[in-house]
Amino acid sequence: MTDPLTPVLTANWAQEGSWTLPAYVDQGGYRALKHAVTLDPNDVMQMVKDSGLRGRGGAGFPTGMKWGFLPPLADKPRYLVVNADESEPGTCKDIPLMLASPHTLVEGVIISAYAIRARQAFIYVRGEVLHVIRRLQQAVSDAYAAGYIGKDILGSGYDLEVVVHAGAGAYICGEETALLDSLEGRRGQPRLRPPFPAVAGLYASPTVINNVESIASVPAIVANGPEWFSSMGTEKSKGHVIYSLSGHVERPGQYEGPLGITLRELLELAGGIRAGHELKFWTPGGSSTPMLTKEHLDVPLDYEGMMGVGSMLGTRALQMFDDTTCVVRAVLRWTEFYKHESCGKCTPCREGTWWLVQLLERLEHGDGSVDDLDTLLDLCDNIAGRSFCALADGAVAPIMSSLKHFRDEYVAHFEHGGCPFDPAAATLFEAETATAGVGV
Ligand SMILES: Cc1cc2nc3c(=O)[nH]c(=O)nc-3n(C[C@H](O)[C@H](O)[C@H](O)COP(=O)(O)O)c2cc1C
Ligand code: SF4
Repeated sequence: MTDPLTPVLTANWAQEGSWTLPAYVDQGGYRALKHAVTLDPNDVMQMVKDSGLRGRGGAGFPTGMKWGFLPPLADKPRYLVVNADESEPGTCKDIPLMLASPHTLVEGVIISAYAIRARQAFIYVRGEVLHVIRRLQQAVSDAYAAGYIGKDILGSGYDLEVVVHAGAGAYICGEETALLDSLEGRRGQPRLRPPFPAVAGLYASPTVINNVESIASVPAIVANGPEWFSSMGTEKSKGHVIYSLSGHVERPGQYEGPLGITLRELLELAGGIRAGHELKFWTPGGSSTPMLTKEHLDVPLDYEGMMGVGSMLGTRALQMFDDTTCVVRAVLRWTEFYKHESCGKCTPCREGTWWLVQLLERLEHGDGSVDDLDTLLDLCDNIAGRSFCALADGAVAPIMSSLKHFRDEYVAHFEHGGCPFDPAAATLFEAETATAGVGV
């Protein structure tokens, strides 16, 4: 097949010392910034709007439109906050990007802050990734020394301060309003909206919050033009994105391609599912996005395509699970994560995720019944859409989708009196279930 990859954000990752300022500049780095500061900030914002860039943090909200929600300039300062918390199971694109090429993000931060007329920007990084934090701090410090950050940037009269802030490692702090509370020094819990961050965000001032990959996409848009960006992707999902393939795949890793590529195409590039096995289920964008099966290999990986099959594109964290995986066990592990990470603010999520784990444990051990499956769905129904933030919706997604695609496998657990799955010989499950009249 023709190589459908479009390396832009990942283009310099294999270069010697790609994270250093000289290597980045050698590759054309900070060229876009030099151009941007000669333009009116409104024109830079318009370029981002025209490109069709949609937020890469999961929801896919148009970035330029979000920037346009800021109220007119007044006495209050404006802030740019970069969401670099990346904690969703399976999601691993922002951390590699910041590790391999922190200046791509830093340049994006400066141009984006200039476009929205912010004089202070924060990069909120997940606390556990100390190596990434150090690399970012070094990149910011080198950018200050080179005159790209600080007073009168490149003689333009524009001033900007950039702070790299380490979180304490809580999944909920990736939710944008919880992140703001955490950045202000409070316990990270989601805020009631409205007011939205664009109006009253950090320190109750107008704030733009964007994902690392969204902001890192801005320099290439400014350097190459919005038409170049929107020539990639599909009608409503424009541009290039990073797909992270993990799990039972021959060559896991980051594959940058246009929106709308299919999993089948990506798997061809990644050497396919590991030898001797076949794909059983996969997530399009991390554990919070409903799982799909091999029937969905040819569905375009864009926002519309994934919605059309009852899932979501999310963060393009493509986790592959082959025929040796017990779906009930995998779902239990994810649910334990959500139970642990529930911030406790609202009852359906705090109590509900605890009950979900109890039920799934029982089912996985083979002590469940058909009634438990109904209770599981009933619980999910009382959590999704009835909780304070989207963590709860994500928590029920693996359960509801696995029951849709693999109900027989749940049933096989209590018919067998335990997990009927022998990972060493995937055939056992097939043999057992065939006699029980159940197929996977
Ligand atoms: C529980 C939870 C965790 C989240 N974690 C992240 C995260 O780690 N990084 C991120 O960019 N967005 C995360 N989000 C989405 C953010 O709330 C927000 O939509 C995003 O940062 C906006 O950026 P974008 O418009 O550039 O996509 C999370 C949302 C929820 C509900
Ligand atoms: S849904 Fe869960 S994570 Fe979100 S506010 Fe409620 S308890 Fe906290």
